[in-house]
Amino acid sequence: MDRRRFIILGSAGSVAVLTGCGGGSGAAMPPSGTTPPPMNPPPATPASPLTAGQFLADLVQLTNTSSTPGLFAATVAAQRASKVMLPGTATEFWTYNSLVPGPLIDVYEGDTVRIRLENRLSQETTVHWHGLPVPPDQDGNPMDPVAPGASRVYEFTLPVGSAGTYWYHPHPHELTAEQVFRGMAGLLVVRSRTDPVPATIEEKLLFISDLRLASDGTIPANTAMDWQNGREGNYVLVNGQYRPVLTINPGQSQRWRIVNATNARYLRLALTGHTLTLIGTDGGLLRSPVPGLDEILLAPAERVEVIVTASLSPRASAVLQSLPYDRGGMGMMGSSSSTIPLLTLDYTSAATAAVALPSALGSIAALGVPTKTRRLVFSSGMGMGGMGGGMMSFLIDGKTFDPARIDLTSRVNELEQWTIENRSSMDHPFHLHGTQFQVVSRTRGGVTSNEPYLAWRDTVNVAAFETVVFNVVQQQLGRRMYHCHILEHESQGMMGVLEVVA
Ligand code: C2O
Ligand code: CU
Ligand code: CU
Repeated sequence: MDRRRFIILGSAGSVAVLTGCGGGSGAAMPPSGTTPPPMNPPPATPASPLTAGQFLADLVQLTNTSSTPGLFAATVAAQRASKVMLPGTATEFWTYNSLVPGPLIDVYEGDTVRIRLENRLSQETTVHWHGLPVPPDQDGNPMDPVAPGASRVYEFTLPVGSAGTYWYHPHPHELTAEQVFRGMAGLLVVRSRTDPVPATIEEKLLFISDLRLASDGTIPANTAMDWQNGREGNYVLVNGQYRPVLTINPGQSQRWRIVNATNARYLRLALTGHTLTLIGTDGGLLRSPVPGLDEILLAPAERVEVIVTASLSPRASAVLQSLPYDRGGMGMMGSSSSTIPLLTLDYTSAATAAVALPSALGSIAALGVPTKTRRLVFSSGMGMGGMGGGMMSFLIDGKTFDPARIDLTSRVNELEQWTIENRSSMDHPFHLHGTQFQVVSRTRGGVTSNEPYLAWRDTVNVAAFETVVFNVVQQQLGRRMYHCHILEHESQGMMGVLEVVA
């Protein structure tokens, strides 16, 4: 019996036995053959919360050790590291280079990136370059693990046209969810040397992650409910900080690159007293700005670039918050019905002259007329135990992931139209590796809306009972993953393998 087929987890007692010492381990996966337990109680919320109100820190940059122009070379170590989160208590994270979040990789189109991964964890890992068109054997697939104590080099060249906001995170078989919620994820920006957004528009990077802390400052393992719904923490962090403060001058415009690096939390972003101007999505700039947005929904793994213009008076203040969103998880109304403050935007008193945004941004063109269509179906089914004890399992085309199986085959450079139909009562963010796609339409409740503007995406939310259509081309031979980016679903097999052939 395939243990990945069921979303079940031993009781809290059996988890403690499996994990042994504190700090968690890969044993947080559901064991097979056990009777599904009652729902685990939610972990106790710490009495003294994290410190809010510090100035937003810049992400620590990964240092380029190469002096060769056009080559970015560095080492990242996957290792445990402690950081004080709750006052007076050190929390052990799993990190890249002891940093939470991981170091910022800031590179240009045309650069060759050569990153050596040293795995100092006690379980296998990989580095996946989420959204980037890297060769399949450099993309950290679960079929290419780096064993504990081992290392490897990832190398790829960033093509012209790839400028955008990406991120990197582990992708080992069944272990991705845990490695990410314990701290392993970082931002990767690819810049263009001919970026049409004026450099006088100050850029801010907002890397949003989720952290659950128990009252003793440890990061607890997933509960049975987490494996079902996807884990949401008790703190949402921006650049590893709790409700930090960012300053802006009256009149000033800022360009925010925002990453949803949470395992499962939907961010329905709104900035009080302001509208947002969308200028870019996962894979880079839109053709022209989309102004006047009251909110932007960012599913797990999605990114946006927005322009924020300080239109209020000197000394004003605003809050970037995540509004309630019902993503259909079982018993989730509590968490999804609250508004969560993420960051405070404080106005200074020194006015800055506004900088105009060009009306033409990216040169994105429609992909054209597809010559192949395919359809994928998300479904859910009762796992083991049936009525009362069973947990839902989430499937793609009725299957769970098997690293030895090829689920789909595509021809290299062929334009395909994919239809993703969600027959389950829960939202699932669909993600495809190796390329960017263009959403064509979304159908909900029998109503089809065409996508209002062209955008490059590698992740798209497919809401409960929704169908999403997109066009896509794979330009490199080899095996690519596609999966739900609720990482608990991914780690339990809501994933498949696409082989791109000649
Ligand atoms: Cu963000 Cu398969 O990954
Ligand atoms: Cu990815
Ligand atoms: Cu899912």
